[in-house]
Amino acid sequence: MITQPSNHPLRILLIGNTGQLGWELERTLTPLGELQACDYPNVDLSDADGLRQVLRQCKPELFVNAAAYTAVDRAESEPELAHAINAIAPGIMAEEALDTGAALIHFSTDYVFDGLKGAPYLETDTPNPLSVYGRTKLAGEQEIQHIGGRYLILRTSWVYSMRRDSFVNKVLGWARSQTEVKLVSDQISGPTWARMLAEVTAHLVTSDAGDLLDRFSEYRGLYHLAGSGYCSRYEWGQEVLRLDPHKNEHMVKHLQPALTVDFPTPARRPLFSALNCDLFNRTFHLQMPEWKFALKLAMESL
Ligand SMILES: NC(=O)c1ccc[n+]([C@@H]2O[C@H](COP(=O)([O-])OP(=O)(O)OC[C@H]3O[C@@H](n4cnc5c(N)ncnc54)[C@H](OP(=O)(O)O)[C@@H]3O)[C@@H](O)[C@H]2O)c1
Repeated sequence: MITQPSNHPLRILLIGNTGQLGWELERTLTPLGELQACDYPNVDLSDADGLRQVLRQCKPELFVNAAAYTAVDRAESEPELAHAINAIAPGIMAEEALDTGAALIHFSTDYVFDGLKGAPYLETDTPNPLSVYGRTKLAGEQEIQHIGGRYLILRTSWVYSMRRDSFVNKVLGWARSQTEVKLVSDQISGPTWARMLAEVTAHLVTSDAGDLLDRFSEYRGLYHLAGSGYCSRYEWGQEVLRLDPHKNEHMVKHLQPALTVDFPTPARRPLFSALNCDLFNRTFHLQMPEWKFALKLAMESL
């Protein structure tokens, strides 16, 4: 059983360090202890035995899981694989954490909701996912909650980074290569800059409010944590282009608003899935900035 480390660096295992969020977490968690970071294929979340072996070898005091099957449309045709990665693997992490007394931070999604509430979702609202991705992520939350132990599940939304193939980079690319760009104006949520989410996550670990493991016991549970405020994808895209320091490279003059029904996709997405983050803000005295401000900071790193 792990006890609070008093005189040795905290042993942290980060899984998924090449993803949008994981890449940022590797940078914010590194100063906090002895960080081991791994990703596919060194650890394969669809291989339960292999995953257990990696977790047991590392013996972390804190597991941070930033890995997931995030291909929302592809998941419709690979439900078993998505379930293994998004539901079974987090359950294994929770079991291993429980067995050793370690803490677990896991991330989930606004896509567990059907988007019909018409107001930002609370943690107490009943999920009703519309897609395989949403169902498997919900199953992952439930696995962790069922196993118990010291866990924080952070549900977030519309994560973007200035690396990889994020929505922001796609909009910047389309604006430079097309004269007409249409974005849906009826899908609404809170854009969340991966770096800011990683910063806030690191603050949860370093907070001096008592010992880490006690804190994770006291505050364990599910919290919403996303960029403050909300917008449509169309409004988000407009703001991206407004903030682009290289507007002279744009081929497109104005974005065109469109409707979700005009862009049929294999997976259904919730239309209004903004998250109310008041519980997180009150509990941890931390908050994510307004989405437009975070986007400005992100775009300044271009
Ligand atoms: N992106 C969003 O808009 C969004 C919204 C709400 C919630 N979230 C949640 O936030 C978290 C982070 O999302 P993200 O956007 O950073 O995701 P991401 O960029 O797609 O990264 C996912 C990571 O998981 C890894 N991974 C995939 N399959 C794996 C496997 N079988 N074994 C080991 N690793 C595997 C990927 O590795 P490879 O790169 O090698 O495939 C990648 O490093 C996830 O829990 C996601 O569900 C994301």
